[in-house]
Amino acid sequence: MHEFSIAPMMDRTDLHYRNLMRLISKNIILYTEMIHANAILHDKFNRFKIENECKGPTVLQIGCSDPQQASKLSKVIKNSNFKYINLNCGCPSDKVIKGDFGAILMKKPILVAEIIDALQEHTNIPITIKTRIGVDNFDNEEFLYNFINITHKKNISSYIIHARKAILKGLTPHENRTIPPLNYERVKYIKNSFKQLKFTINGGINSLKESKKLLKTYDGVMVGRYAWDNPWEFIKTDSVIFGDKYVEQTRTEILEKYLNYSQKYLKLGHSPRRIIKPLFNLLYSCDGSRYWKQELNNVANNKKPLEELLKIIDNIESKLELAA
Ligand SMILES: Cc1cc2nc3c(=O)[nH]c(=O)nc-3n(C[C@H](O)[C@H](O)[C@H](O)COP(=O)(O)O)c2cc1C
Repeated sequence: MHEFSIAPMMDRTDLHYRNLMRLISKNIILYTEMIHANAILHDKFNRFKIENECKGPTVLQIGCSDPQQASKLSKVIKNSNFKYINLNCGCPSDKVIKGDFGAILMKKPILVAEIIDALQEHTNIPITIKTRIGVDNFDNEEFLYNFINITHKKNISSYIIHARKAILKGLTPHENRTIPPLNYERVKYIKNSFKQLKFTINGGINSLKESKKLLKTYDGVMVGRYAWDNPWEFIKTDSVIFGDKYVEQTRTEILEKYLNYSQKYLKLGHSPRRIIKPLFNLLYSCDGSRYWKQELNNVANNKKPLEELLKIIDNIESKLELAA
């Protein structure tokens, strides 16, 4: 079965964004932001409990560099709702590298294998790895082959590969997502070298059409920034990618469900600003998008009630329909 997912993105793929996207597609796999193992083990802010309230296929992405910590984590996650637990071996930010996790782990496949072993101690939830095609000067097929060869022996059957190398010094995370060139050929080579494993391709994918085409070559496709920039395109995911019957839904209908869901979190003290953050791009490249964002800002600044958004989006959609 092919897999189609929205990538983990810090400050973006939080519970609210995921709830919006789950209303948009019931089948798409959604990732949490990367959460450090420590944050889950100490769980000061009930973070794990909140993330675990996910609906549909959801993956918990963790940052971890210590097998002992991983073993403790394995106990905490054992009865959780997640489809997979994913180990981040691709993040190149300074903070992450100082913590000795993320992309630097590509240089330490034996340690990664130990972490994977420990993560499986108390749980049967499958563990997966998200990584890059290389790191710094380790930028060739042999290096990636060696990383997969060592780690997959610990019962890893699925990898997500961001098809760019990571540069650990001198580039910001943003630059690390744009400057190193995409190299899908290397992912294809690795896929052909490990026929028993599943590989999801990630990096620079900007439409459902392109995703569908790539699913003919790879076992999975993961989309990151585009799913944040244009969430509404994903309304066709279940029909275009998963072959479900297309059910027409308007943005107004989805927003109504989203606002109903958010009542619970408003009562728990989540701010309207936080609730509406995933809604800003709902009218991506449509007439009325600027006005919509202004009105969202009015809600965020308590100048308008949240409920008024329904009337506003309904008006915009009616005008869009008339113009079509
Ligand atoms: C704002 C932002 C935050 C990200 N945070 C994470 C993260 O927490 N964990 C991770 O593995 N990758 C993270 N990424 C990388 C994405 O998961 C993805 O690999 C990358 O954006 C390439 O895919 P794209 O070209 O479809 O955006 C982040 C990307 C962005 C734009």
